[in-house]
Amino acid sequence: MDILKKIEQYRSHEARLKWEGTFADYLKLLKEKPWVAQSAHSRIYNMIRDAGVEEVNGQKVYRFFSHEMFGLEEALEKLVEEYFHPAAKRLDVRKRILLLMGPVSGGKSTIVTMLKRGLEAYSRTDGGAVYAIKGCPMHEDPLHLIPQHLREDFYKEYGIRVEGSLSPLNSMRLEEDYGGRIEDVLVERIFFSEDKRVGIGTFSPSDPKSQDIADLTGSIDFSTIAEYGSESDPRAYRFDGELNKANRGLMEFQEMLKCDEKFLWHLLSLTQEGNFKAGRFALISADELIIAHTNETEYRSFISNKKNEALHSRIIVMPVPYNLKVSQEERIYEKMIRESDVADVHIAPHTLRVAAMFTILTRLKEPKRGDIDLLKKMRLYDGENVEGYNSSDLNELKKEYQDEGMSGIDPRYVINRISSAIIRKNIPSINALDVLRSLKEGLDQHPSITNELREKYLNFISLARKEYDELAKKEVQKAFVYSYEESAKTLMDNYLDNVEAFCNKSKLRDPLTGEEINPDEKLMRSIEEQIGISENAKKAFREEILIRISALARKGKRFDYRSHARLREAIQKKLFADLKDVVKITTSAKTPDEQQLKKINEVVARLIDEHGYNSTSANELLRYVGSLLNR
Ligand SMILES: Nc1ncnc2c1ncn2[C@@H]1O[C@H](COP(=O)(O)OP(=O)(O)OP(=O)(O)O)[C@@H](O)[C@H]1O
Ligand SMILES: [Mg+2]
Repeated sequence: MDILKKIEQYRSHEARLKWEGTFADYLKLLKEKPWVAQSAHSRIYNMIRDAGVEEVNGQKVYRFFSHEMFGLEEALEKLVEEYFHPAAKRLDVRKRILLLMGPVSGGKSTIVTMLKRGLEAYSRTDGGAVYAIKGCPMHEDPLHLIPQHLREDFYKEYGIRVEGSLSPLNSMRLEEDYGGRIEDVLVERIFFSEDKRVGIGTFSPSDPKSQDIADLTGSIDFSTIAEYGSESDPRAYRFDGELNKANRGLMEFQEMLKCDEKFLWHLLSLTQEGNFKAGRFALISADELIIAHTNETEYRSFISNKKNEALHSRIIVMPVPYNLKVSQEERIYEKMIRESDVADVHIAPHTLRVAAMFTILTRLKEPKRGDIDLLKKMRLYDGENVEGYNSSDLNELKKEYQDEGMSGIDPRYVINRISSAIIRKNIPSINALDVLRSLKEGLDQHPSITNELREKYLNFISLARKEYDELAKKEVQKAFVYSYEESAKTLMDNYLDNVEAFCNKSKLRDPLTGEEINPDEKLMRSIEEQIGISENAKKAFREEILIRISALARKGKRFDYRSHARLREAIQKKLFADLKDVVKITTSAKTPDEQQLKKINEVVARLIDEHGYNSTSANELLRYVGSLLNR
């Protein structure tokens, strides 16, 4: 469908959602859909819940976040269950400022943005619909129109509790425009939009000298004072601060702790009583989530200041640590690359994984248990099977530190290093080694890193490199064996012919010349040595195999390379050992002969077709593995 058509559809969809009526109509609507009167916190909680919750290994996973936030399931569960859920039930936490605390680039802003975009969409659904007094700059809740002394009756009839009092502006409009007839006051459905400043606000501190509290709570409109005669006429006031505009939804308070104190004090009454003071008016009720974010250092210095005590108790701190799972870190990079302008660059298999290993190692704390090293811990955290350990070891490890994930390398740094590796290389194809090199160079240029830490990080780079070497070797070996089964069978048949001749003290016939030859002792030993069969034990081993063959034959079965577990292991090992030489020679030949060239082309083709390489990265891989095997 073309874009113009879609635009038209969208417009007519928006038009269909519109609703306008009197307060009396609104009450009728409330009978059908009582949930539209829910508080801002409750709406946010329901938005998250409505998107779906899964349970994976006893861990709640919220779909609302899970398509964009990776590896933060525990932190998000805490956020939802310890803040949004009780806040939705009108418990006191909802009056507190929600402060996300975590290391740089750990996803704090992303969480807030998701909530904002989510609310914009949710307010356009039936479950998330919001209604307000028409024409009110603060989108005031229509139920505020119900006089205090009738609220108990209203509760009995509708089962809805009303909090907050009618704002000075709407009190005046009620008298002037509607002659006090509450039932006639016009109500409309509103749709959250950050761009249009409806229900979503953002406040970020600027120069404390020039920043005005008006940015938060609005200001006198001097041009209208003449008309209304007084500064305390609410019509002469512009209720256009971020707190006003975010009413019914949420306000993001960026860099809250960098903010001048006078702004923070302003929030005190809001967080305490659910209302704030603007101009010369009575307190204005507000129903909104205030969400701020900060890093740990700033937070520590904030709470160590006695002056901040009162505010401190009105803040709920939720940690947003770094992800600690390699596979999830890989997804973060994939996502960030997809969203960047290097999205079309070829990234060789394992590249992001190896970068992620390095990153996670910088974030993990050294295990206290002596039997687990950092690499094993990294694997266990990622849900891998590590021999000899199980989930109770994992839980024990997690309990060792309460504040893990608050430091280390951030994802943005890694993406920057990947970008600079791409720019440097001039071909749109990078591999794990390019990235590790770039990470290493980045450490040298990093201004805020101590020598000790640099040493530690360099060590992690070499650990990641070793992991990569193993991955690379395995990948190439796999690509070299065209048909593993077939090769194994051929080698096995060959071995059995020789064993038979050896045990029967007979000779073999050379398939080409027809000449009689002795059993190939060298071949047999080269296989047997793979599983540690000594010279003295070889005879017994060979005889045992012959017996097995005849036992099977009596049952009408054929002996194949799977019939004998130890022999099978020996054959497998021998194949890879042989391969090692082929791989070694083929990959490192300076001027490959025709045969080698053919093999190389075959392997490259297989790496491209079956393993996700392109021709640059496949050739680079072969060369690298060749150099590894020749060390
Ligand atoms: N756990 C994660 N899952 C998905 N993406 C993540 C995660 N952590 C970080 N990111 C990505 O890293 C980038 C930086 O994240 P964001 O800006 O949200 O961090 P922040 O905590 O606000 O950082 P700062 O302290 O610098 O403001 C974003 O592109 C974000 O999507
Ligand atoms: Mg941020």
